[in-house]
Amino acid sequence: MQPKVTVIAVDGPGGAGKGELCIRLSRKYGFAILDSGAIYRVLAYAALQKNIPLDDEEKLTVLAQNLNLSFREVNNAVAVMLDNEDVTSGIRNEAAGNAASKVAVLPQVRAALLQRQRDFAVAPGLIADGRDMGTVVFPDAAVKIFLDASAEERARRRVSQLALRGVKADYDSILREIAERDFRDRNRATAPLKPAEDALVLDSTTLSIEEVVETAVTFIESKLAS
Ligand code: DC
Repeated sequence: MQPKVTVIAVDGPGGAGKGELCIRLSRKYGFAILDSGAIYRVLAYAALQKNIPLDDEEKLTVLAQNLNLSFREVNNAVAVMLDNEDVTSGIRNEAAGNAASKVAVLPQVRAALLQRQRDFAVAPGLIADGRDMGTVVFPDAAVKIFLDASAEERARRRVSQLALRGVKADYDSILREIAERDFRDRNRATAPLKPAEDALVLDSTTLSIEEVVETAVTFIESKLAS
């Protein structure tokens, strides 16, 4: 008999706090995390390195099929590896996020990455972080959470995160980039960003991370008990 794998899908727009929520849930339940956004980011990064235009569906699909990507734990943090090169810092910036959102529009590219994402679901369970985890990649997930926050609040959080790293950022341009990426992610034809029908929609705009975790855990416990 196959061991039971519990998938907790956490979807939502960038900057709503999914990353932190997933880390807390992964510690609590001892499940691995799938950072699906990192996969799209690495694909866009590899495309830019190879001078493949971000709308060339055919070439990007071949690239996606052959992408030599892995996650490695280094000093308690996750490093994203492309062909054994640590590309973590190269993919964690606004430009990489925006480029990822562009390649993510293409249906064949998404299809090429589907099985790779599903392969992360191993016992005892997986916390799957993304845009379409509950709707497309893991439609049978035991628990689905859609974490939202207003664009203004997400921009404020981003500016303070960057400030902590010593990077001075302009609130208005960050807000503009967030709005642009949201629009693309929500309005694409394939696997658009939207809550699954059976998802808990949690608006974190005025909530602390502790409040978000508490609400999520209460929901998870009720779902796992039923
Ligand atoms: O979560 P993130 O900011 O790292 O994601 C970067 C982009 O990748 C996001 O704007 C859209 C795309 N993406 C996606 O289309 N589907 C996912 N499951 C995860 C990310």
